[in-house]
Amino acid sequence: MSTPQPGDALRTLPDSNWERGPSSHAEHLVEAGHVLQFPNLPFALEKDEQRFLDPSWSDGRSKNISLRGATELRGAQGGKDDLAALQAIIRRFAANAQALVDRMFPQYRGKLRAGNASLRPFAVEGRESSWRKDDTRLHVDAFPSNPTQGVRLLRVFTNLNPVGRPRIWRVGEPFADFANRFSPRLHRPLPASSFLLHALHITKSRRTPYDHAMLQLHDLAKADLEFQSASPQQEVAFAPGTTWVVFSDQVLHAVMAGQHMMEQTFYLRPTDQLAPETSPLRVLESLLHKTLV
Ligand code: SIN
Ligand code: FE
Repeated sequence: MSTPQPGDALRTLPDSNWERGPSSHAEHLVEAGHVLQFPNLPFALEKDEQRFLDPSWSDGRSKNISLRGATELRGAQGGKDDLAALQAIIRRFAANAQALVDRMFPQYRGKLRAGNASLRPFAVEGRESSWRKDDTRLHVDAFPSNPTQGVRLLRVFTNLNPVGRPRIWRVGEPFADFANRFSPRLHRPLPASSFLLHALHITKSRRTPYDHAMLQLHDLAKADLEFQSASPQQEVAFAPGTTWVVFSDQVLHAVMAGQHMMEQTFYLRPTDQLAPETSPLRVLESLLHKTLV
């Protein structure tokens, strides 16, 4: 399994149907750190659903409208019927994403756990945020309150912008290069800190040494402006109607522009991968010569 060369992160597949298509068995491509793109795989909204692209359905507190489990809608405001319609849209996207990953990754069947799905109605440009939350900077996904303990983050995205605007990403160097670059600056967690963070409900589960390392890598990358501008990277434009799939804990990414996207997160244990040694957990363990569980 070879990691992508600079400028070669994308793999383009022709499928135009979520349930059926010519492509399958793409585990080795995503695990190697490629972004799988389907330029002909739109998520269609019905005529009376188009109104939900307006950011005013957001409750203003969160940048996404998300569905947790089958029925818990978060981040939206509106009447009962509106919220039910919004929920139906996100649920339909979640079902499409599930169908896609089930046939693209037969090895993961029954092993992927679906997390939240979301509608992201806001424009990327002009969003105010701290450097740590600024996703226009290259990063791997790692979240302070959501330790994964090494479990993989596989994400399905679809651009559904109605006026032709692409979603522009930058995709960075392979994970092993990135980890190598910053590993001299990684330090250990303070003794008892993971226990305290969990006991105080700051984290939703125990923050393992792996989570601690990933959060540091996330922050080191975003804080390093030289790395941001000078490290190997390529710009990618996902046109409306395009779906893309990526291990976002592994692939360095940044979002530069765009509006209106759907997203579904899946979790996968490294031991359920085709090549577990490509997981950030195993790459970091072999780099640091210690277990991180
Ligand atoms: C991210 O995971 O960094 C956000 C990607 C996007 O909004 O396109
Ligand atoms: Fe991200």
